[in-house]
Amino acid sequence: MKETSLVLVTGGAGYIGSHITLSLLEAGHGVVVFDNLSNSSAESISRIEKICGKKPHFVMGDIRDKQALSNLFNRYHIDSVIHCAGLKAVGESVKDPLTYFSNNLVGSVTLLEAMARANIFRLVFSSSATVYGDSPNMPVNEKHPTAAPTNPYGRSKLMVEDVLRDLATSDQRWSIATARYFNPIGAHSSGLIGEAPNGIPNNLVPYISQVAIGKLKKLQIFGGDYPTPDGTGVRDYIHVMDLAQGHLKALHAISLKNGLNIWNFGSGKGYSVLELLDAFENASGKKIPYDIVARRAGDIPKCWANTDKARQELGWRAEKNLNDMMIDTWRWQKNNPTGYN
Ligand code: NAD
Ligand code: WQD
Repeated sequence: MKETSLVLVTGGAGYIGSHITLSLLEAGHGVVVFDNLSNSSAESISRIEKICGKKPHFVMGDIRDKQALSNLFNRYHIDSVIHCAGLKAVGESVKDPLTYFSNNLVGSVTLLEAMARANIFRLVFSSSATVYGDSPNMPVNEKHPTAAPTNPYGRSKLMVEDVLRDLATSDQRWSIATARYFNPIGAHSSGLIGEAPNGIPNNLVPYISQVAIGKLKKLQIFGGDYPTPDGTGVRDYIHVMDLAQGHLKALHAISLKNGLNIWNFGSGKGYSVLELLDAFENASGKKIPYDIVARRAGDIPKCWANTDKARQELGWRAEKNLNDMMIDTWRWQKNNPTGYN
């Protein structure tokens, strides 16, 4: 198949970026992955080739490195950029805010400058539902005011959103999608690529799956007294392959129109921690021991997306259900007990 375009995926060796890279290759795009491998392994790139028989170009580098970006844009004729590179651990961002602002904010600005110099004005940015903060009204749509985030990670995402808004206003050539992800989980159905966190996972699904394979003893459920049907936190979990398809649709949409677009990428449904646990146990046949403990600082009771805008404007909606997400999570974890190592 003739390549339809060449897309740069920053952070393309990581969890979400690797699934986006695979989906782009399968759709006939050429892909250049640019990643410093600070939270990933080049093995994910080899696995992508195993799945689809095509290989992305891979360049190891840091988005804060002006010269490396300049060399990259000189070497490849890139049409558009999907910008996933960044750090994402909320707790770590509280301990080390400068590293987060450096990678997420300075890195994004450096990338945008390099894109403008290379006359590339199409961008999809990995943002987060964290920018909505704690809203009493669910589901949240894109018009919902962004709240003051409670941690440096969230602030870094909101700051980049602000930069993108100003940029789109300042110069009509920019065509930008701000993709607000809810809670991406799951893995490609091959079981060859998936989420491989370093150390003890912060997020619920990787934690549960590591209990299931015996790496961790017990799940701690943070809070059983939230104002939700069963007292545990409710979130909008979205299969990472649905999310990847959303990026393809967003990329196409911004190739047809300029300016700034914001889209929620969620399933539109909220599930509690206990509902998710139940679904995982059914899919894996494993019993997950747990304790209900105190709430985690900074957590909100509930959050799920209104996805009407993405459906109307992109013709996209999440196709996979919670059972699909759990089956794919478990296949990946079972086949790769130590991630890519
Ligand atoms: P990930 O850590 O698996 O992937 C991020 C990738 O970026 C990694 O491969 C890492 O090595 C690379 N990277 C980090 N800093 C870099 C730098 N300075 N230069 C070059 N590469 C760098 O995380 P992920 O879950 O795939 O997240 C991808 C993006 O989506 C992130 O921007 C994250 O903030 C955002 N996001 C993630 C979630 C989630 O729950 N996973 C939710 C909302 C938004
Ligand atoms: C989900 C639910 C927890 C772990 C975080 C970031 C957010 C975004 C996604 C990037 C909550 C509960 C969790 C555990 C538990 N990242 N939980 N025991 O908190 O919605 O969002 O990741 O943008 O910015 O804040 O996701 O997976 O950590 O938690 O009970 O060991 O599971 O309290 O209700 P969260 P999560």
